[in-house]
Amino acid sequence: MKIIIIGFMGSGKSTVSALLAKRLKMPLIEIDQEIINHAGGLTIPQIFDRRGEAGFRELESEIVQRYSSSADAVISAGGGTPERDRNMVVLKSGESRTIYLEVTLDTVLHRLGDQSDRPLLRNPEGARALHQRRQAVYRRYADLIVSGENSPENICAEIEQFLKGNAP
Ligand code: S3P
Repeated sequence: MKIIIIGFMGSGKSTVSALLAKRLKMPLIEIDQEIINHAGGLTIPQIFDRRGEAGFRELESEIVQRYSSSADAVISAGGGTPERDRNMVVLKSGESRTIYLEVTLDTVLHRLGDQSDRPLLRNPEGARALHQRRQAVYRRYADLIVSGENSPENICAEIEQFLKGNAP
């Protein structure tokens, strides 16, 4: 089964996905990391600067397509992966559960500090509008909504409980 973790930047997707993969003894796929590898080691801000957001999204969709056929994995999505419906259709194909880690914008800004590696957080007003709009996007695809304000251990326990109750 694919377990897809979605949520805003700073919601804890990477930390929770890594811990969950370890606890469930499943492979971990980090979409952002795969994008970086695929772009020859360019950082995400460098990809945004050179190719624009549109170029980044194209790369992201390519990576999503490539890893969507993994039968058994915890997949940590990028914050913007669910912006394209096609990405989620492909990711959710086959046996899958999508978990949304919900956090407030205050938590995001507190966790990410100067946000230098998140191009979409450079402008505070833009970040607020994006956070607000994205909540509806994440909710649309979520099979489970978990508060990302809790500890990674508690979040994983909650997800595991859900998976047990929703076994295929
Ligand atoms: C983005 C989130 C980032 C990264 C890129 C765009 C977004 O991933 O993919 O900066 O659109 O929300 P994280 O959510 O892992 O920070």
